Amino acid sequence: MSEEKTVKEIKEINIALLGLGTVGMGVYKLVQRRKNELPRKIGCCVKVKKILVRNAYKIRDGVDNDLITDSWDEILSDDSIDIVVEVMGGLEPAGTYIRQALEAGKNVVTANKDLIAEQGHELLVMAEEKHCDLLYEASVGGGIPVLRPLKQCLTGNNIDMVLGIVNGTTNYILTRMTEDGMEFDEALAKATDLGYAEADPTSDIEGYDAGRKLAIMASIAFNSVVTFKDVHTEGITRITSTDIRYADAMDCVIKLLAVGKQEEGQVSANVYPMLVPKNHPLASVNDSFNAVFVHGDAVDDAMFYGRGAGELPTASAVMGDVIDISRNLLQNCTGRVGSTCYRNLPIKPLGEVKNCYFFRLQVEDMPGTLASISSVFSKHNVSIKQVIQKPAKKHGSELVVVTDFVKENDFAKTLDELRTMEMVYEISSVIRVYA
Ligand code: NAP
Ligand code: HSE
Repeated sequence: MSEEKTVKEIKEINIALLGLGTVGMGVYKLVQRRKNELPRKIGCCVKVKKILVRNAYKIRDGVDNDLITDSWDEILSDDSIDIVVEVMGGLEPAGTYIRQALEAGKNVVTANKDLIAEQGHELLVMAEEKHCDLLYEASVGGGIPVLRPLKQCLTGNNIDMVLGIVNGTTNYILTRMTEDGMEFDEALAKATDLGYAEADPTSDIEGYDAGRKLAIMASIAFNSVVTFKDVHTEGITRITSTDIRYADAMDCVIKLLAVGKQEEGQVSANVYPMLVPKNHPLASVNDSFNAVFVHGDAVDDAMFYGRGAGELPTASAVMGDVIDISRNLLQNCTGRVGSTCYRNLPIKPLGEVKNCYFFRLQVEDMPGTLASISSVFSKHNVSIKQVIQKPAKKHGSELVVVTDFVKENDFAKTLDELRTMEMVYEISSVIRVYA
């Protein structure tokens, strides 16, 4: 049989792209790049049938203009479209389009972390009712396969921890501050120039982007719905080059970590900068790279590493989902894996979470200072792991303190009381330590 004849006989899966920006363009290119291989690789052709954009008159190099439309109804009413690929972003109209697509029996792939972190469960339930697939691998970790491994390959585990560096912008900023001694603003400007940061970088630097990704990962890992509002987020805007130097002296680096844990029948999901020992695998994840570290009762430790953003890495994840659905369509078995959130675990309040802390105190240099400060620590159940006393730059002494695990509430009370003491001039660099 000639190659041409084989391809003609093979089923064609039609997709519609909603959005032709960074990710949409990447998907378009990848579909063209794999065009001749796909029939042999997966048993069908994948064809871009329509592309929805905001501005249909914009010149788009290398794209067949006949595919472009600014009418969603044109896509929704086209029965030949099997898969809607939502890569436009934002909660609306993306949410409405996805709901309407599922209602019409179309399968959906999305890269939209904002939407999935808020409405993922509801959308998955809807997809299940319609026997459709709703896949969103690209919403966390860009090109890194992490959601499918969590949801499928690791299902045999009880996963008790997901720990990730899931924002490329902040990881790039912290890397430049560490390796080149840059200050925060300079490193952010470079991250923006390189296209890592969002147009408004607030969601990157304040930890919201990482918080959304953590909500998505935690829901899958712990089989319980975690939404963005359940995640406590702190960003990296207060990290200074002095903090970075202190971290280095303690054989640590500072990373913005997304920390999800399942313990004592509760889920905790928090994003904050932490001192990470240099011998931890996440410490060597640098620049815009992302990594997710998982612990399960059977697999033990597993880590996923790669490019967390960008045109082709993100398109790689989207294409993986498109191909997965295409295979299901060929076997008539879409809607096989829907929401896996069968538990309803409560969210542990931040105040109950235990962490180790690193902080610096500028104090009066006189007999009894250390004893008075120690009594505040013991009053609030704070056990000290390490304390170093140094002459302060201006006057008095500097105490560099590392605590053992302490409840966040107890630590906050300790800081509040220390701030009222006359002998304490200033408390700086309060950073959690990953231990
Ligand atoms: P982008 O470059 O800003 O592109 C957005 C595209 O969507 C544009 O083509 C735009 O049309 C279209 N669009 C926006 N609103 C629309 C509307 N109301 N109706 C029709 N079309 C609309 O965005 P992106 O960076 O590709 O990101 C897309 C999604 O992927 C987001 O959810 C993002 O969070 C996620 N994501 C991105 C990355 C990444 O590296 N960029 C990585 C992981 C996940 P026009 O071209 O006409 O303006
Ligand atoms: N702004 C995001 C980041 C893009 O820096 O990781 C990928 O989601």
